[in-house]
Amino acid sequence: MKTLITALVVATTFAVSASAQDMAYVVNDDDYTIEKSLTGVPGDAGAGQAAFVGRKKGNCLACHAVEQLKDSQLFHGEVGPDLSDVGNSYSAEELRLRIVDYKVINDDVIMPAFFRSTGLSNVGKKFKDKTILSAQEVEDIIAYLLTLKS
Ligand code: HEC
Repeated sequence: MKTLITALVVATTFAVSASAQDMAYVVNDDDYTIEKSLTGVPGDAGAGQAAFVGRKKGNCLACHAVEQLKDSQLFHGEVGPDLSDVGNSYSAEELRLRIVDYKVINDDVIMPAFFRSTGLSNVGKKFKDKTILSAQEVEDIIAYLLTLKS
């Protein structure tokens, strides 16, 4: 019950950014990656941190704890795994799929698909054909996550 409520709260705080036209990516089902950058523009780790913590952006701290942010951010969730060492665990390509659409890997996951606008059920008009994060925000967050090594 607790996790369900968290998801609802999180879902209502997400802002709307990119439109469906921006979406084009290829999922590699063999090793669960998206190889190609969504934008071709290298991610910016500083912008990525802002999008990661931003409540109307990724709001990733709602479900994940990050040791490196304990001094600057009060609330860290524990629904998902601690991400303090995620830069050692995953490649950019693996992170890209997990942020774009984790449901490809685990259909039951509570983590939202941050860059998928098709096949969503129960979305309001405002969210129809929109993704939660823009393509560049996904790339920026990947760059930020790759800096997290503990
Ligand atoms: C509503 C809760 C929720 C939110 C919000 C959320 N996640 Fe997750 N995340 C999860 C859960 C649960 C898992 C574990 C999934 C599994 O093991 O199948 C996970 C797994 C992950 C993993 C893999 C970690 C590992 O050790 O295997 C990464 C990376 C990740 N999330 C990044 C993010 C980023 C970046 C954001 C923000 C853009 C985010 N998550 C937002 C719940 C969330």
